[in-house]
Amino acid sequence: MSVLIKGGRIVTAADDYVGDIFIEDGKVSLIGGSLDVRADKEIDAGGKYVIPGAIDPHTHMEMPFGGTVSCDDFTSGTTSAAFGGTTAIVDFCLQEPGQSLPDALATWHEKIERAKPLVDVGFHLAVTDLKEGGTLEDLARAPDEGVTSYKLFMAYKGAIMVDDETLFRTMQVASETGALIMVHAENGDAIDVLVKEALAEGKTEPKWHAATRPPITEGEATNRAIQLARVAGAPLYVVHVSCDEAVQPIARARTSDWQAWGETCTQYLFIDETALDQPDFEGAKYVYTPPPRPKQNQEILWHALATDVLSVVSTDHCPFNWDGQKTLGKDDFSKIPNGGPGIENRLHMLHHFGVREGRLSLRRFVELVSTNPARFFGLYPRKGTIAVGSDADIVVFDPEKRHTISAQTHHSNIDYNLYEGTEVVGAPDVVLVRGQVVVENDELVGEPGTGQFVKRARFGEELR
Ligand code: URP
Ligand code: ZN
Ligand code: ZN
Repeated sequence: MSVLIKGGRIVTAADDYVGDIFIEDGKVSLIGGSLDVRADKEIDAGGKYVIPGAIDPHTHMEMPFGGTVSCDDFTSGTTSAAFGGTTAIVDFCLQEPGQSLPDALATWHEKIERAKPLVDVGFHLAVTDLKEGGTLEDLARAPDEGVTSYKLFMAYKGAIMVDDETLFRTMQVASETGALIMVHAENGDAIDVLVKEALAEGKTEPKWHAATRPPITEGEATNRAIQLARVAGAPLYVVHVSCDEAVQPIARARTSDWQAWGETCTQYLFIDETALDQPDFEGAKYVYTPPPRPKQNQEILWHALATDVLSVVSTDHCPFNWDGQKTLGKDDFSKIPNGGPGIENRLHMLHHFGVREGRLSLRRFVELVSTNPARFFGLYPRKGTIAVGSDADIVVFDPEKRHTISAQTHHSNIDYNLYEGTEVVGAPDVVLVRGQVVVENDELVGEPGTGQFVKRARFGEELR
């Protein structure tokens, strides 16, 4: 199957020009001013942006967490991704404490066999236990399977939190194997004390989720991870940076040329701590971790994105239905499953409020949602750019298309949307995964199973 995308404004992290793209066998085979080729399918991209498919390096599909399981499997979650212009995800394969690392990876491979994805999928290995289940040897072997990033949770005490020894040993392995270390940076011990104190005082409503996880606990853990990674000689990527206290140590690392980088997520740019105050338990919709922060952090995050202090915007898509899942914590905020949706609306929100409102250039937008995730996670230049030889993961994005964000219009299984009712201008028109059209004019035309597991390159290496 060949495809010709004609006359679009081709925007990558490096370039911005008008041209045609010819796709054969799932790859970009020609790019030119006005190509004289015949194709099985022609897409008129006049007046539209043609951008590399977005990559979401932070998702949690069908993940057991907080006594329940996130409500998107790989089919529904990646369908939602595709409608939002995301053509590849890297999901967290979570080792159950006590489980071996190969078993954890096998469990995640079974998930994509059972609920086949629409977009391409890679896995990070989220290490929770190196004492009973996991071994350093198995950890060292994961990159050979194309799993080239290790994730550690410095929070969620009593569940999936690791101690500093496990964190540091994993960093040492990463420095040997060429894997990238990812951390959820919060001081889980301190937070555990604050949560227990709040509950003992009868403070049970959703707003106490934020009050018991103050920004300094994120800042402290971010700095600790950065310094430990320096000792171990491992590259570090801090996930879901939410506040100034965590931006500051990353800014210091960037100016010091240490091997440490950070991402934020869409929700931290738009939702602040007051969302948790909504009556009738509606605030539980915004119980994700780190929590929504005081509003002044939002401009700090935008500025950090624009100035390359933060390198990626992901979604941390971890959806739990309000009805039946969030309500598990009706009488105790600590029992509300932590996580929120967002995979479908990252480009809508960042394009409208970032590019249209002048906070980000168009090329920086592409870099934040596609090129940098590809570079960090061993997918570049196969993905994350539009170049001859790259996978034809492409989004024809109409910058004038109006879209209302809502649980009624999204394709995730979840029963609410964090940005409910937001009107944006700019939305994907056509989405291709390795040359196959999966979404066209708001219709699903691709099949589950179009997406494949991708073995990723080691940190700093290219994937061809
Ligand atoms: O609340 C969140 N973010 N849930 C998913 C797990 C994590 O911490 O990323
Ligand atoms: Zn996290
Ligand atoms: Zn997460």
